[in-house]
Amino acid sequence: MTNKTQEHYQNIANIYDELWIYSEEFVEFLTAKIVASLELKYTDVLVDLGSGTGIYAQEILKQLPLENPIICVDPSDRMLSKISSDNRLKKVNADAVTFAARSQRYDKVLIKEAIHHIADKELLFKSLFPRLSAGGILLILLLPPTIDYPLFEKYLRQYEQSQPHYEDLAKLLAGAGFEVAIDFVEYPVSIEKTQYFKMVENRYMSGLRRFSDREIQAGLEELARKYADSTVLHFAERFVFLKALKA
Ligand SMILES: C[S@@+](CC[C@H](N)C(=O)[O-])C[C@H]1O[C@@H](n2cnc3c(N)ncnc32)[C@H](O)[C@@H]1O
Repeated sequence: MTNKTQEHYQNIANIYDELWIYSEEFVEFLTAKIVASLELKYTDVLVDLGSGTGIYAQEILKQLPLENPIICVDPSDRMLSKISSDNRLKKVNADAVTFAARSQRYDKVLIKEAIHHIADKELLFKSLFPRLSAGGILLILLLPPTIDYPLFEKYLRQYEQSQPHYEDLAKLLAGAGFEVAIDFVEYPVSIEKTQYFKMVENRYMSGLRRFSDREIQAGLEELARKYADSTVLHFAERFVFLKALKA
């Protein structure tokens, strides 16, 4: 993780959950899809790589009380510090590649909205493969190559240039030995305009950190003009589910 990324998450940790949880229903909905796609069983050892504040690890435990603690791995100690003390959640302060190099066994791995931060994805996949048990699953959730969030044009173009393409990741996963299946999950989001603008102002998407205060301000003015007649914004949240099976 670059110093800038590290700094971003260290700075944003205190307000992360407030910024990122559109609604409890959204987290429940997405978690149910994650549990199903991971084919989670009570006895599984699950790793949440790039767990952040543990929003999804905690919801997984609500939906399926696993027998073994979920291993929450994140290089940001401040993001990890937001995970409630619960002996069913084991915090590991490390980056994904370093963690995957450790000789440890697990059955399932979740990487949700963190893969774009990992520089050497090929090394990560090749390191994870031998750590997984036979029948183990690595599930990667990422945003698609284009998004229709109500964000300003300059950001959207920058996003399209920097977001890894799921097809490239699928090739790397296959090269590491996995059988790969691709799925798409969509959820309609409705959010108060003032709340969404606050999220933008706080640079809720990590790519927004590349914009200066002045650029963010100009972006918000563009959005204020575009959505002048709306009090609530509606858009589709779309996730690519990349399911990699160790057959
Ligand atoms: C957008 S957040 C997603 C957090 C969580 N998975 C979720 O969906 O709520 C991205 C997370 O990836 C972490 N991260 C950044 N670089 C990483 C790396 N090299 N290895 C593992 N995690 C990383 C960040 O610290 C941050 O907590």
